[in-house]
Amino acid sequence: ATIVYVEHDGTRHEQQVTDGWSVMEGAVKNGVPGIDADCGGAAACATCHVYVDPDWLAATGERTDQEAEMLNFAENVESNSRLSCQIEVTPALDGLVVTMPESQH
Ligand code: FES
Repeated sequence: ATIVYVEHDGTRHEQQVTDGWSVMEGAVKNGVPGIDADCGGAAACATCHVYVDPDWLAATGERTDQEAEMLNFAENVESNSRLSCQIEVTPALDGLVVTMPESQH
């Protein structure tokens, strides 16, 4: 699926991401800056924090319990905040837009 990563300064990166990867992996493996993913995708670091475009909130679903707990430690959490390692890329997410927070640039 095509995932659109938007850096805090507005720079857009449109990437083809393999289905089954996480949104975090799609950024890290393609060299998109702004997602550090220190814990490697275990929902244990909150450095893969993204804001999901409001149009995509229904498609990306709910936070997991562990994810919600980790987000308590992240900065500038909003109602559309997610840990991108916990969003699995599927064909239904083709065109998904996520924005990275200022603290991760
Ligand atoms: Fe660590 Fe997502 S990569 S919480």
